[in-house]
Amino acid sequence: PPPTLDANGVSRCCHVVAMPYPGRGHINPMMTLCRLLAARGVAVTFVVTEEWLGLLDSSPSPPPPPPPPPGVQLRTIPNVIPSENGRAADFSGFMDAVYTKMEDPVERLLDRLQPPATAIVADTYLPWAVAVGNRRNIPVISLFTMAASLFSILYHFDRLPFAGDRRLSVDESDKPLEQFIPGLSSLRLADFRTFSSMGTPLKRALEAFYWVRKAQCVLFTSFYELEPCVIDALRSELSCPVYPVGPSIPYMTLEEKQKKPILLNRSDKDYFDWLDSQPKNSVLYVSLGSFLSVSSSQLDEIAMGLRASETRFLWVARGDSSRMQEMSGVMGLVVPWCDQLKVLCHPSVGGFLTHCGWNSTLEGVFTGVPMLTFPIFWDQPPDSRLIVDEWKVGLSLKEKVGKDNVVGREEIAKTIKRLMEDTVESSEIRRRAAELREASHRAIEEGGSSCANINSFVRDLLVGHN
Ligand code: UDX
Repeated sequence: PPPTLDANGVSRCCHVVAMPYPGRGHINPMMTLCRLLAARGVAVTFVVTEEWLGLLDSSPSPPPPPPPPPGVQLRTIPNVIPSENGRAADFSGFMDAVYTKMEDPVERLLDRLQPPATAIVADTYLPWAVAVGNRRNIPVISLFTMAASLFSILYHFDRLPFAGDRRLSVDESDKPLEQFIPGLSSLRLADFRTFSSMGTPLKRALEAFYWVRKAQCVLFTSFYELEPCVIDALRSELSCPVYPVGPSIPYMTLEEKQKKPILLNRSDKDYFDWLDSQPKNSVLYVSLGSFLSVSSSQLDEIAMGLRASETRFLWVARGDSSRMQEMSGVMGLVVPWCDQLKVLCHPSVGGFLTHCGWNSTLEGVFTGVPMLTFPIFWDQPPDSRLIVDEWKVGLSLKEKVGKDNVVGREEIAKTIKRLMEDTVESSEIRRRAAELREASHRAIEEGGSSCANINSFVRDLLVGHN
């Protein structure tokens, strides 16, 4: 091996410390990135709060992500706030704690680390990590685990007319964001309505976007072909390299699964047996996220709309699932957790009703499953806009929000049928979804845009430390 690599092909001089934001939607894509780095010989230390190590080690429900690959070592810091299985009761309080309580323990860990860290890859929502790196004179790479479009919005937030908590007029709501920020052709001001009402999280996020300007590189879990205009615009504006390296889905695990017979545990086997017995493209997979969910009256309307549409379904629902259990029957199955990526790959699955979390969005794109969007907050409404209006791979379930902010069952049933039945409109959506799936696969293959970006990024890292 070259002198800079040890006998196992791991770099002797480049040691990356990876710091994800403590939440599943952030830890998973950071681990995917670390797998890619480790596969290229970079030594990685992955830092998680203790509760997440618990989730990585034991087998609670939901099950732990796959163990780290060789070349990635795990280190822990204390939990920032009491929470249950990584789900904090108070979102703002949790975010505050992440912003104020992680820095000291991370500093102490960095003091002890051997060999010393030569670079930090930190979630963009950990702004203090940039300060830590700057103090130690080591580069900080910012990983943004949501859409590049959202990054651009938060980066340019002061250009938007959200003064204080002023409400937008109807005319203003419909204004394209491109009037304020380059590269965002289909997004509307209205897609960011939930932002202006989110005091603490918005303030914290904007703090992070002050610090991201001091990072040495920005990585996205998106891929170039998915958001080309916004990525071009950011590249011409940011003074550091910008590398989209996605779609960041656990695709290495998927490849392994496709090669070997899949070992299913019992509960997995139940829903896969059921999926196996359903006609091609007939099942709607429903998952409204692991973090916040819809109100119980909205949940009722979705359940009733689904029943009225007479569509087969597999629904992931936790918590108050008693009403959900009533739904299990001939037409569908309700499970507390499933292997989402594997489910989306199943030939019976023909639609994905999603809250538009960014990981779910990328997984829908990667598997080419048309989406029905039901965004709840933060990045989800803009993700929905991209899915429906820009990429044209889905339909929105929130077009007609009735009184009490609830979408009614008739509207839901009608839209489910529009997507799941064989019509000119649904075939066009399926065609677009297949195109985007191909583009996403090409991006991560040898010679694809994301593969080239990750190679350039690793080269930058190694050159910096040879
Ligand atoms: C959170 C925010 O809600 C989201 O808006 C943001 O983009 C990321 O952080 P989360 O709600 O967890 O994310 O949703 P998402 O980003 O979609 O991630 C969920 C992950 O859990 C996906 O990788 C999905 O495959 C996995 N999952 C979910 C399962 O494997 N099984 C399930 O049953 C449900």
